[in-house]
Formats: sequence, structure tokens, C-alpha cells
Amino acid sequence: MSRAELIEMAKHSLAHARAGTIDQEPDVMQIPASNYFDQQRWQLEMDRIFKRVPLMLAMSCEIPEPGDYKAMEAVGVPVLISRGQDHQIHAFVNMCSHRGAVIMDEGTGNTHRFTCPYHAWSYDQKGALIGVFAPGDFGAIDRSCYGLKALPVAERAGMIWVTLDPHSQLDIDVFLSGYDSLLNQFGFADWHMFEQRIVAGPNWKIAYDGYMDLYHLPILHKETFGPQMPCQALYYAWGPHQRVSSPDPRLALLVEQPEDEWSDDVLLGGVWTIFPHISIATFEGGGRSVMISQLFPGTTPQESFTVQNYLMARAPDENQARQAREQFDLLKYVVEEEDYATGLKQQRALMTGIRDHVLFGRNEGGGHRFHRWLDRIIETEDADLNELFASAAPNQALSAG
Ligand code: FES
Ligand SMILES: [Fe+2]
Repeated sequence: MSRAELIEMAKHSLAHARAGTIDQEPDVMQIPASNYFDQQRWQLEMDRIFKRVPLMLAMSCEIPEPGDYKAMEAVGVPVLISRGQDHQIHAFVNMCSHRGAVIMDEGTGNTHRFTCPYHAWSYDQKGALIGVFAPGDFGAIDRSCYGLKALPVAERAGMIWVTLDPHSQLDIDVFLSGYDSLLNQFGFADWHMFEQRIVAGPNWKIAYDGYMDLYHLPILHKETFGPQMPCQALYYAWGPHQRVSSPDPRLALLVEQPEDEWSDDVLLGGVWTIFPHISIATFEGGGRSVMISQLFPGTTPQESFTVQNYLMARAPDENQARQAREQFDLLKYVVEEEDYATGLKQQRALMTGIRDHVLFGRNEGGGHRFHRWLDRIIETEDADLNELFASAAPNQALSAG
């Protein structure tokens, strides 16, 4: 089914390429400039978006084996993701039930138990409290009440989503809106994590807007990617998640071949975003490597950081590793010195308050949809979140014709 959807998108793209058109939004959209720096707005985004919707926090290939774990902080919450002996994924708040110490240091590893560095209480891979140091001295407690606090978690398409609210009733599959079946076409579960880097940036939305924006490519990146990059974008949406690609005349070459021979690399091109903070960038000709960017808000509205994950379909040999590192260096340079350097200045300019709104053109549908979803989620109460995502039409661009 999802491959059929990929083929449908390729045909849609080719039709636009031949006609020289794109799908335009009905109008130019205004967004309040203060959305990018107002403290109250930012807090709402943290509390009502980042702490309520599932976040893609880890790739399956980071913790492939039983006993593997990843500890990290997401929006101030210490998170521990572990793979049990049965290969099932679990997620917890990385906080000890004794007096709240953070148990595992950030990073990945393999262990059969999680032992707190403060007084050595220990927990198994399912979060159960299995060891209390000097229990006779400590006194009796009901251990079954003092396991690690579990977080909702799901592993789909070689990626792991965690919801930071332990009481969330939002169904992760409802939130994914079928998008994971498309992402599954990459086969990320068997890929190889080549390298990870961290880049500091401006307000998380200033940074994230750029990942959905092809309009700037031949302009801002004229010295690096080159002016031959397309500036026209097509957007396909599954709930709040969007694929961005360009009308591609080279797809015409595919039409000569039977559909089941159309190559996945071509069908999967472009940028795949996962709401609210992930971008998967594919590379021309080398569809066997991607850069997956995870954007995290910092501690104030003016800052964010991005974890860049460079994944390869297979572990590279020496030569491939050298080429991959060169490409990754270039990507980091482009994001840091072109996108985020521009964004940091944009941030300061917006914070003067002199301009009260910014614009997204009829050609920038990705931004329209992203900002509309932010507002809708912020306005929705916990009990209605499932309905909000369930009511979104699948693959909107195609269903709209
Ligand atoms: S806080 Fe973890 S054992 Fe005391
Ligand atoms: Fe860019």
C-alpha cells in the first residue's frame, strides 16, 4: 500500500514538473512574529506540544540488541529507553524512585540492570525495582510501587517514539496517521548509525521552518549546494507529518519502466519531516544514506540544539566512510554557517518587535500546515487529542488532487 502511495506521489510530482506548476495554498499566511520569542507562547509549546505528543527520540539501530539502552534528556525530562531480553522496547523517566537521582548517564550502552549512582538501588530492563541497598537498615517498602516511571513508547519503521507524559492517553499510532508505513520503506531498522553531531541554533521553530522550505535553497545555499537546487516544493501530509519534495522532471525516465521496477531511491527522495521536530534528508544518487535531524528546544525561546544523525544503509568501508564524513562535514557547515547563522540573526531582528508578523507564501504550504497544527494542538485538551489526529485526512495533497 505505501509503495503504491510512493508511486502515486511520483506521478503527481511528474505531472507538476511537466506543467511547471506546484500545489499552492489559497492565500499568503501571516504568523505573529512574537510566536518566535514570546516566553508564554514558548512555554505553551513545551507543555502542550513537546510534553504531550510522541517524540522520535531514538533510532532502533542505536539500541539493536537485548539489554541495549539509551539515556538522554528531552525538553528537560531525563529519559531512559531500553530493549528487553524479548527485544521489546521500554521507556522510563531516568529518575530513581528513592530520592530522584538521575540513574544512567547520557549515552548508549548495554546492561542487565540499571543501578543508581547515589545509593545503588537497581532496576531491571522492564523498570522493576530489583535491588535496595542495605534493605534491613532502610526499612520495609512495597517494591512493586517503586519501579521506574514508565512512559508510552512505540517502535515503528526502525524508529522509537516516546511520549514524555506518563499519563498520556494519546495512541502513538493514531498520532502517526499511517506515516510510519511510508517511512518503513527506508528499512531503517537494519541501517547503521555512522556518526552524530550537535549544532546550536535559534528558536526551534525558526530552525524547523527551514527544513520544510525549499524556497530558500538556491539563494541562501548558493555557495554550497549550488544555485541549481529547486526552489519549488510539493508537500504531502499525513496528519501533522509532511514529506517535502520538488516537481522532478527526471521522474519522466521512470515512466519508461514498469512500476514495480521504479527504484526506491527515487521514490523516497526529498525531505521527510516528523512532527514536531524531526527532518529526514535524503541525498541524490546516494539514497542509501540520510541525515536525520532531531531539533530540541533549549532552555529559553531563543535557543535550540539539533542532533544530526548520519545513517547509512550498510556499515561503510574505509573509502565510503571518508566520502560520508566529507558529506557530513558539508551538511554540518551548511546548517551551522548558512541556515542557523541566518536564523540567529533573524531571531534577534524579530525580537526588536518592530515587525508584528511574518509571511508564508502560497508556495510555502509546509509552513502553513506546521504552524496551523501547532495552534490546533495547543488549543486541544488532553481528552480530545486522539480525535484531533484521527480526524486528519491521510495524504492530503493527493486526496485534494
Ligand atoms: S537516589 Fe537512587 S538510590 Fe538513592
Ligand atoms: Fe537551508
